[in-house]
Formats: sequence, C-alpha cells, structure tokens
Amino acid sequence: MPAESPFLFPVYAQLPLEPVSGAGARIRTADGRELLDFYGGHAVCGLGYGHPAVNACLREVGERLLFQTNAVPNRERAEAAEALAGFAPEGLDRVFFVNSGAEANENALRLAFRAHPGRTTVVAVSGGFHGRTAAAAAVTDGSPKWYHFPALPFDVRRVSRDDPSALAAAVDDSVAAVILEPVQGMAGAVALSDEMLAAARRACDDSGALLVFDEVQCGMGRSGRAFACEWAGVTPDLLTTAKAIAGGYPAGAVLASAELADSLPVGSLGTTFGGGPLAAALVTTVVRVIREERLLERVRRLSERIAEEAVTGPVVRVQGRGFLLGLVCSRPAREVRDALLDRGILSGTSTDPAVLRLLPPLTLGDGDVDALIAALADMGPTP
Ligand SMILES: Cc1ncc(COP(=O)(O)O)c(C=O)c1O
Repeated sequence: MPAESPFLFPVYAQLPLEPVSGAGARIRTADGRELLDFYGGHAVCGLGYGHPAVNACLREVGERLLFQTNAVPNRERAEAAEALAGFAPEGLDRVFFVNSGAEANENALRLAFRAHPGRTTVVAVSGGFHGRTAAAAAVTDGSPKWYHFPALPFDVRRVSRDDPSALAAAVDDSVAAVILEPVQGMAGAVALSDEMLAAARRACDDSGALLVFDEVQCGMGRSGRAFACEWAGVTPDLLTTAKAIAGGYPAGAVLASAELADSLPVGSLGTTFGGGPLAAALVTTVVRVIREERLLERVRRLSERIAEEAVTGPVVRVQGRGFLLGLVCSRPAREVRDALLDRGILSGTSTDPAVLRLLPPLTLGDGDVDALIAALADMGPTP
C-alpha cells in the first residue's frame, strides 16, 4: 500500500484498507468493501458506528456548546462525572476528566507520589501497557522501546503477572503505587488472576501504596462488567479509563475515592480539553446506552459463545474476558488476521505473535459471531 501522506510522520504500520464510513459493527472502505469490525478502532468504538444516541448528542451538544474550559462550571461535565461514578464500583466516587489513556495514567501516578512524598518506586507487572508519555511509558513493559528520555522519572520494580507472592514481596515502604491492567490488552487479552488482584490490594493496604488499575482498554463494559476489576471483587484506589468512554470521541478519566479526591487542593491537577461539554455529554450517553440496551449481558453471552465456538480452524484456545479476547493460534496471528481480512473480517494482533486480538463494539450481534466462526472454520486447521 502506498504511504498515507508525505506530510505525516511515518510512524505507523498500517493495514491495507481505508475506512470511509461505518454503521453498527460494519465499516465500508474506500475501495467499496464492507468489513465486519472485530477491531473496533482499537477498542474505541464501543457503541459501533453511527449509533443514533451518539449522533443525537453530537448534534445537540456539538451545535449548542462545543467547548468550555474547566475554569467555569458546566452542566454536561457535572452530569458525566455523576454518570461515570454511578457506573463504576462503589468507592470510586470522584472523577477527573482528561483526554487519553496515557494522560489518565500520568495523573494517577502523580497522585500516588503526591500522597507519598519521599517514596520513589512504582511496582508494575510483566506484559503491562500503560501508554507513551513519560510516567506511563516508564511502567510499560519493554518501555525502553518507547522511552527516549535520558532517565526514568521514578524507579520501577516489575514482577511477573502470574506471581502474587512476588508482587506482595515487591511492595515495601519505598513504593508509592502498584499499577496493573486487570485484563492486559496489548499483551493479547490476558486476564490476571483474582489472586493477583487480591494480592495487590492486600499489599497496598499493608504498605499504604495506592493501587492503580488501568482499565483504559478493558473498562467501560468491555469485560462484560462495567469495569473488569468487578470480576475479582477488588476495588483499586485509582482507576483509569479512556478509549471507548466517549463512543469514539477523545476522552479519558481518573476515578478515585471521595476521601482521596476531596483532599486535593485547587491547582494540583489540570488539563485544557479534558471534560469539555461534548466529550462529557458523550460519556453520559455511552453509560446510558450500555444500561438501556443491556450491553453488559450481551457482551457476556456472546463472549461465552466465542470462547466455546471459535476454537476452530487455526484457533487452539481463547483467552481474555468479555469483548477483550485473544484467539491463541497455531500459526502466526498476523497470517490469521490477513486471512480473516480476505474473508471480510477486521481483527487485531498483539505483542504475543500467536495471539489475535478481538475488540469488537459492545453492540455486536449473534449473526456477527456466526460470521467470525464460519470464517475461522473456513481457514481449516494449520497443516
Ligand atoms: C491499557 C492501556 N493503557 C493506556 C493506553 C494508552 O492510551 P492512549 O493511547 O489513549 O494514551 C492504552 C492504549 O492502547 C492501553 O491499552
């Protein structure tokens, strides 16, 4: 495929297709193909494309008041904070809106160091991906790949994602925060065990370190619960989310307890665009649609179907939760992705070369799952 444009930084490997419109879980490409989207714009298009509630919100709020600053009160922002806090597990009752996942993590880690002056370390787990800004990249596994600054902003202690005792042992008095994704996205949809999440909670309770769950990818209903930590019954001190939170519009959020948030002095955090009226109104819309259309039930039911029926053709096992699924393949995931694309289905890869990642809209239907399974079966087993 020719380069997209000589005027852009050439920093992305791109797929050979150009989406020009979308409806539901389907996208149409510039060369006239219709594709079933199991990639969801990298987990962003949680309500698919052209959802009537999203369109109505874009028109109503976009035309009336596209943007206003955090320096003035705004009804849409207030409603979105209440909606998101009501959607999140009990105990996460305050919201700070930002623009992206990395910005959410940057602020969560900043809050942890603010709470613990003198502590120097963050504990992170193997396979974790947290973004490309300084603090987020520092806790991302393999971060030297992303990290071009001369020094890390703090010390990072990394433990195996499968080892609750190692995690417990790593959290000493120098640790300000533990950060992990309850279901790792980039790593190939790897759900951490309930024991791992519980061990992190206990270690933080004992040491005073703040527990940060990065639900940028696995949150906002994708796991089949509002937030993935609910599967383990573990509530973090800080939860970050972004991607699908505003149905495709850039937005992110940090959630925290009232106790933590209400202790912050004016001026301790800030952002220009975060929580603008349109982004905020879209967050409220996404929460409302997930509830009204009972999308969590749909995600759980269809996810179970995929886990049972997609072990066919090149797929030997399915991992992950809800609609953050990894199809473990007996041949390179890239080849399976290309073969699916030839059959009209868009999917994603991961940092595990054997794992194909599915991140479809939460609005997916039974017929879409049938199409995926038929396409995989059509490929036949790996010779
Ligand atoms: C779990 C997780 N955290 C953080 C990020 C960074 O989000 P953003 O690209 O919006 O900064 C991502 C992006 O893929 C992610 O998957």
